[in-house]
Amino acid sequence: MELEGASAVVSGGASGLGAATVAQLTGRGMHVVVLDRGGSTGVPVPAAHLVRGDVTEPTDVAAAIGLARELGQLRVAVSCAGVGSAQRVASRGSGGVVLAGEGDAFRRVIDINLMGTFHLVSQAAAAIAADHDAALAAGGVPDDGVSSVGAIVTTASIAAFEGQVGQAAYAASKAAVVALTFTAARDLAPLRIRVNGIAPGLMATPLVETIRDDVMDGLVDNIVHPRRAGRPEEFAALAMHLIDNEYLNGETVRLDAGSRLPFAPPR
Ligand SMILES: NC(=O)c1ccc[n+]([C@@H]2O[C@H](COP(=O)([O-])OP(=O)(O)OC[C@H]3O[C@@H](n4cnc5c(N)ncnc54)[C@H](O)[C@@H]3O)[C@@H](O)[C@H]2O)c1
Repeated sequence: MELEGASAVVSGGASGLGAATVAQLTGRGMHVVVLDRGGSTGVPVPAAHLVRGDVTEPTDVAAAIGLARELGQLRVAVSCAGVGSAQRVASRGSGGVVLAGEGDAFRRVIDINLMGTFHLVSQAAAAIAADHDAALAAGGVPDDGVSSVGAIVTTASIAAFEGQVGQAAYAASKAAVVALTFTAARDLAPLRIRVNGIAPGLMATPLVETIRDDVMDGLVDNIVHPRRAGRPEEFAALAMHLIDNEYLNGETVRLDAGSRLPFAPPR
């Protein structure tokens, strides 16, 4: 699939794993639009290609995709926007047993991580297919009738498979992203769009910078080899492979140096 001169949308591309992926896509000659609710520090795209918005708002997703289509034929979407959670479903506090509220915090994580991914996947797929149809109608592109016309990458987490204490909302949202990824690959087969995902382990991004050193040491202890957090460039390299490799579809690949999350004893 020719990426040079085509366009891409990356949600959450202003930071961490998304920003590293933006750099790779730009390096391949793509026009990249970033959809992010955060600031633009360090984003390797022109400010004009940064759409400030929220992935939970379908109109914000549409604005980013619309801008990308103005810049070139849309072929790629990468969903990186996501947030963590830290709340047990119920726990024993100093004043007795406490519930996790009425689910508002849980719902917010599902909204961003799952619904945000859904909006991007669904809208990007429709736009990729429409742009391909338009290019064909204009007679400008060769088409063998079999090759992919676009590729989408989602971001899950190893928490999808193993859970983690205090991360019920996060793990549930990411498990749903894995299910969405495989199902979307099936749904989008008639449009010749592949959908794959990445399930990272511990990655060195701003998302994990707030973790205390002693907790971080414990997390690194779960890693088989190499014993360090993953680098954003390693995520981006895998994202590019998922986009480039025509025979990868419906798969969510663990990127975790063999990590397995242990059960933390109750406190
Ligand atoms: N860092 C890790 O260890 C790790 C591990 C597993 C999975 N992940 C997943 O990787 C993805 C990227 O994480 P990261 O580590 O790069 O985090 P990050 O915080 O560095 O970047 C996430 C970006 O998403 C944006 N974002 C968050 N909510 C948004 C919303 N509602 N609308 C638009 N933008 C929004 C943020 O502004 C930020 O720029 C997330 O989905 C995260 O769950 C990260």
